[in-house]
Amino acid sequence: MASSSLYSLPPLSNGLILFLLAINSLLCIPHLAQSSSCRNPPIIFNFGDSNSDTGGLVAGLGFPLRFPHGRTYFRRSTGRLSDGRLLIDFLCQSLNTNLLSPYLDSLGSSFSNGANFAIAGSTTLPKNVPFALNIQVMQFKHFKYRSAELASTGVSGLIGYDKFGDALYMIDIGQNDIADSFAKGLSYVQVIKYIPSILTEIKNAINEIYDEGGRNFWVHNTGPLGCLPQKLALVKNVSQDLDSFGCISSYNAAAKLFNEGLHRICTGLRSEMKDARIVYVDVFAIKLDVIANSTKYGFSNPLMACCGAGGPPYNYEREVSCGFPGYEVCDETSRFVSWDGVHYTEAANSVVASKILSMDHSTPRLAFDFFCH
Ligand SMILES: *[C@@H]1O[C@H](CO)[C@@H](O)[C@H](O)[C@H]1NC(C)=O
Ligand SMILES: *[C@@H]1O[C@H](CO)[C@@H](O)[C@H](O)[C@H]1NC(C)=O
Repeated sequence: MASSSLYSLPPLSNGLILFLLAINSLLCIPHLAQSSSCRNPPIIFNFGDSNSDTGGLVAGLGFPLRFPHGRTYFRRSTGRLSDGRLLIDFLCQSLNTNLLSPYLDSLGSSFSNGANFAIAGSTTLPKNVPFALNIQVMQFKHFKYRSAELASTGVSGLIGYDKFGDALYMIDIGQNDIADSFAKGLSYVQVIKYIPSILTEIKNAINEIYDEGGRNFWVHNTGPLGCLPQKLALVKNVSQDLDSFGCISSYNAAAKLFNEGLHRICTGLRSEMKDARIVYVDVFAIKLDVIANSTKYGFSNPLMACCGAGGPPYNYEREVSCGFPGYEVCDETSRFVSWDGVHYTEAANSVVASKILSMDHSTPRLAFDFFCH
C-alpha cells in the first residue's frame, strides 16, 4: 500500500489494521478510490501554494519542516504547513479518495488519483522560476504525457490518456503575489495596479489546462490576508490601518479586489468554454466569517498563532517561526484559527472545508463531487 493511503487513516491499532486489510481483500474492495459519492474513481490535480501543499516543498527542495507541524492528525511532519490536514485533504476525504501525493515526491507516492503540484511559497509571477504557476502547469503537461505513455505500455497505477478529461483541476494561488508585493514596500495603489497581471496568469493556466483536455475546474479565491498574525505582527504602524475585526484594511481590500477580478475571469471563461465547468469558491467570505464569529465555531484567539513566539497579541516573530529553535506552541490547537501565523489549524481547515462542501459559497452551486458522476 502506498504511504499516501496511510495518511488518510486515523491512528489505528495494528490488530485493527490487519483486520481491515483482511476484510478488504475478502470483499475485493480496491484500496484506492472506493467512493461513496463518485461513480468513477475521482482524479484530482491541484495547483497552488502552501495553502494546498501536501509535501511538495519538502520533497522538492529538502526544506526542513519539523514537528510540531503535523502533530494533530499525522503525528509527524508530512511537509504540510499545519498541525494537521489542509483544505484539500478534507476535500479529498469527502470523496473517500487518498490524499494527493506531491508531484515531486519520489518516495512512497501514488499518482493513481492525481497529483499535487502546489508548492509552498509559490506565486504566479515572476514566471518561469520554480515553482511559479506556469511551471506547475508545465509539470502537469509532463506528468500527463509521461503517465499516459507508461499506462499505454501496461504500467499499472497510472492515469490513462482518456482519463484527464474527467479529472478535477483545482487552483488556489495569488496570496503570495499580493503578500510579496506589500512586503516589497509597494503602496496599496501599486499593489492594486499589479493585480490584473496576477489574474492573467491564472487565466492562462486555466486556458492551458483546458487545451490539454481539462474540463472541470475548482477555483478558490484568496483569503483575508490582513487577518494573518504574521502580517499583523510585521506590518509597521499596523494600528493605523485596522478594521473592526482587527485585520489590516488595505491588505484585505487588495485581496477582495483580486477576488472580484478572479470571479470575473471565471465568469468570462465559462462563456468562452461552453463544455467546461468552472466553480469559483469564495474562501475569503468563509474565512472572514470564521474569524469574525470565531467563538461560534469554538475558537478563542482568531488573530493569534498557536505555534510561534512572543506571546499575545499575535504570537509571531520573524526569527522564530514554528518548528525552529525557541518556538512555543499552544496546548489546545483546536481553539486556534491560525497555526503558525500564516497557515490555518486543522480545526479551522475542517470548518472551512465543511463550508466549502456546503456549496453556499460556490458559483455555480455545484457539489464538490460534480466531476466524478
Ligand atoms: C509610523 O508612525 C510614525 C509615528 O506616528 C511616523 O513617524 C512614521 O512615518 C509612520 N511610518 C509609516 C511607514 O507610516
Ligand atoms: C458573522 O455571523 C453573522 C450571523 O451568522 C453573519 O450575519 C455575519 O455576516 C458574520 N460575519 C462575517 C464577517 O461573515
